[in-house]
Amino acid sequence: MCGIVGYVGNKDAYPILVKGLYRMEYRGYDSAGVALVHSDKVEVYKCQGRVKDLETFCEGKDISGNCGIAHTRWATHGEPSNQNAHPHFSSDRKIALIHNGIIENHLVLRDALIKQGYEFTSDTDSEVLIHLIEDINKNENVDLPEAVRLALSQVQGTYAIIVVSIDDPHTLITARKGSPVIIGFGKDEYYVASDGSALVEYTKKVVYLNDEEIAVLTPGNDLTVKTVKNKRVSHYIQQIQISLDQLEKGGYEHFMLKEIYEQPRSIADSMRGRLNVKKDVVSLGGIVEYEDRLLSARRIIIVACGTSYHAGLVGEHLFEDLIRIPVEVEYASEFRYRNPIIYEDDVVIAISQSGETADTLAAIELAKKKGATVLGICNVVGSSIARATDAGSYTHAGPEIGVASTKAFTAQVTVLALMALCLANRKGKIPQKRYKKLVEELESIPSKVETILKDNESIKQIANYMKDFSNALYLGRNYNYPVALEGALKLKEISYIHAEGYPAAEMKHGPIALIDEDMPVVVIATNKGSYEKVVSNIQEVKARKGKIISIVSEGDVDVKKLSDYVIEIPETEEMYVPILASVPLQLLAYHVAVMCGRDVDRPRNLAKSVTVE
Ligand code: M6R
Repeated sequence: MCGIVGYVGNKDAYPILVKGLYRMEYRGYDSAGVALVHSDKVEVYKCQGRVKDLETFCEGKDISGNCGIAHTRWATHGEPSNQNAHPHFSSDRKIALIHNGIIENHLVLRDALIKQGYEFTSDTDSEVLIHLIEDINKNENVDLPEAVRLALSQVQGTYAIIVVSIDDPHTLITARKGSPVIIGFGKDEYYVASDGSALVEYTKKVVYLNDEEIAVLTPGNDLTVKTVKNKRVSHYIQQIQISLDQLEKGGYEHFMLKEIYEQPRSIADSMRGRLNVKKDVVSLGGIVEYEDRLLSARRIIIVACGTSYHAGLVGEHLFEDLIRIPVEVEYASEFRYRNPIIYEDDVVIAISQSGETADTLAAIELAKKKGATVLGICNVVGSSIARATDAGSYTHAGPEIGVASTKAFTAQVTVLALMALCLANRKGKIPQKRYKKLVEELESIPSKVETILKDNESIKQIANYMKDFSNALYLGRNYNYPVALEGALKLKEISYIHAEGYPAAEMKHGPIALIDEDMPVVVIATNKGSYEKVVSNIQEVKARKGKIISIVSEGDVDVKKLSDYVIEIPETEEMYVPILASVPLQLLAYHVAVMCGRDVDRPRNLAKSVTVE
């Protein structure tokens, strides 16, 4: 949550900073601000609202300067307002700071600083940082980088910060703990951002800062990095793997729609080099060395949040079906706080699109502390989770910018399927004929997704029907239960229509009381697994006048007869249905949200990377 960006060099900083904010607006969008270092002072412009509001606010103002920092906010402490927007000034207005994260001991620090005479102008936790730095800088007679280091040694919580000062007008000081910081290298210039998307237009050469590291960036000088404990560290420069066109809407009205349509490619990319149908080989380079570890695991524990958690639930079915190792799937936020039993011979798999989700990171740290092997399935290369895990496999879905996760889910399930297949074959328990069939079928999934996308217009008509209801129920069984959860999450997060995902058979234990003619029920009723049982569940809904929108396998007869609206998906293996069935549900949620006039890519109260607890 929150995006930070900084620039120092010989170009005008303002356009670079604003463009960076636009690229990272998905991280938070309730207020925005910029600090520019002029020749005689640091100027801060900030306001509640989106980046475009900041641009309007800055019209006619002095936006000159070759050094500056900017911030787009997702409020944690203090409501969205002009005062609570970043950057925050020191009392003498000589230093400005932006912050992404949460300072947990801010109240104690705030009280101490108030007692010393500091006046606070915002309700944010972040403002303590600037006054603490200012106080140390003045009273302990140390330079600004040292003041930043000493201040950070006093704070508990998470931070990604950038600091500028009029006393050193060509320097950015940045530090991180728990929130990402990427430093970009240009010719006689440095960039800093929360995310590579803000840098890639200018440079592909980057350094990923580690936790508790502080970097001082002055053009003409080499990068210097120290830890909060005052140890010098060196970094090697890496190449960022994002291209600019991946960050544009490419003619689509919204990123979410673009990302839904990208799925034939993103699923294929997630399989590329890992699935060789001619040779019947499935292999994931990133985990080759851990295959034995996985196969001898006492348990596999999958930790994740939101959509990634739903992918994990599909993973549970895949692993248990194909490799017969017990799997537990946990919300990372619950896992980290419930004193879980973790054995050294457990393997924990963390799934995350962003690779920055705070709860998932904390769950990883806990599992590591208890001695378990921790693997990751991440989309963002070089992200904190990718670096915190022992090994893992990237999903290669490409940047996902819409807040609602779409292509990341199908890519995660694809990678989980590849893992399960590869391990099943290695274990030698799966009959070769069956293995071959599953491998071939997986390869055909991208083209089947392509077929589903052609149904967009009829799905739009169903959306037109659904948009007027205030509630919806999503039902599925076995592999399709996580799809029901995911379909419901998509609808509620972008259309604000209340939706529940439920195992179809559980409906009669409570939710059935909700069913009447105003309750659309979306049922994933494909032809494998518990088809007949799901048909009975649909009958139960019909008997209570509920309206049925069904997702069925092509050629279906029985469910179609009972349904008010039907979406057909191509025939596939039961274990791959979640990939196919989730696609029409993404389109359904998308169209409902558009028809309801929602801000599809930036739904209220949400942010793409949840880097706070
Ligand atoms: O980046 P992650 O996959 O770790 O994010 C987890 C959730 O925050 C994310 O899936 C969230 O639920 C999405 N908004 C769902 O569309």
